[in-house]
Amino acid sequence: MKTRVLKINDLQRDVNIIEQASELIRAGQVVAFPTETVYGLGANALDPRAVEKIFKAKGRPGDNPLIVHVSKTRDVDRLISELPPKARVLMEAFWPGPLTIIFKKSPIVPDKVTAGLNTVAIRMPNHPVALKLIDCCGFPIAAPSANRSGHISPTTAQHVLEDMEGRIPLILDGGKCSVGLESTVLDLTAQIPVILRPGGVTLEMLQEVLGEVRVDINVLKPVSDGRKVKSPGMKYTHYAPRAQVLIVRGKLDGIVERINELAEEYAAQGMKVGILATRETRERYGIGEVLVLGGRTQPAVMASNLFSALREFDDRAVDIVLAEWVDTSNEGLAIMNRMVRAAGFNVIDV
Ligand code: TXA
Ligand code: MG
Repeated sequence: MKTRVLKINDLQRDVNIIEQASELIRAGQVVAFPTETVYGLGANALDPRAVEKIFKAKGRPGDNPLIVHVSKTRDVDRLISELPPKARVLMEAFWPGPLTIIFKKSPIVPDKVTAGLNTVAIRMPNHPVALKLIDCCGFPIAAPSANRSGHISPTTAQHVLEDMEGRIPLILDGGKCSVGLESTVLDLTAQIPVILRPGGVTLEMLQEVLGEVRVDINVLKPVSDGRKVKSPGMKYTHYAPRAQVLIVRGKLDGIVERINELAEEYAAQGMKVGILATRETRERYGIGEVLVLGGRTQPAVMASNLFSALREFDDRAVDIVLAEWVDTSNEGLAIMNRMVRAAGFNVIDV
């Protein structure tokens, strides 16, 4: 299959491109499209055969459910069996935006989408191309991140092409994703809301609106054997570049010192070393390919650069990435959630 990439510069002028994309989706095909978080791999959420093609294109395990994307709040009604009062408040506060809410599902949502769960994950993306595409289709779009399963989520159309060339007919290019990490996944089916996956809508933002909010134990820790996970995606080692990743945690001076030592050791073994630094520390590293996430006091900026930095290390054929731990408040929690998975939970304390 030939994969076309069509760039959308001006939504009004390029509306015919969106129409082509929606025609493909209406015909049961899979199309990649931009959102504010990461690129998605979209198909008709109400058509199990179309949804099956998403799993195939990604190589995704069938037990990992998909997020259903809507363009209007009222689209949610027929997809769920119960609307908790807290959900209404959240949708008003954060939609469109990087917040996915878990609801009890209605019968029209295929089991294929929810991997047999009785809940469904729904979000309204804050990207004009995504919203227009959903509108044009006239039905909700199921979409995981548009990467091969286990790989790093794509934040540009080029990233999608690297993973999906020959596997899908069309990629809509809407430029670089502004948030750069996947949406926050919030479970509202329990008494106290639980963050299953942190993202651009932070714990602090949710607490301001909801009061008490919990963070699932597996956000920064591996799933222990035998524990049933709330969000199946959490048991997989995600976001892995080809290079091995090692995170160093502690006081900043200690982190820098240890990374410099490790860099020398690995380089002496003939390995190509990458260092994931921050603006405050970049000048303090002697050897290795140094990439800068951003300033330590700007977690949203660091978040937006993380995935492209991990892909860049692969492009530079780095063997090992030494990464700094960053503060886990605000978007920092989402950054470290992705980083510990990229590292296979390999964290050194200094
Ligand atoms: O920002 C995003 O959320 C992007 C864009 C494309 O919208 N999508 C995305 O989808 O990241 P995906 O499939 O890569 O991640 C969806 C996550 C997985 O960890 C999955 O296990 C979880 O959401 N999930 C989906 N449905 C669920 C459900 N009913 N209950 C619990 N977790 C669910
Ligand atoms: Mg994903």
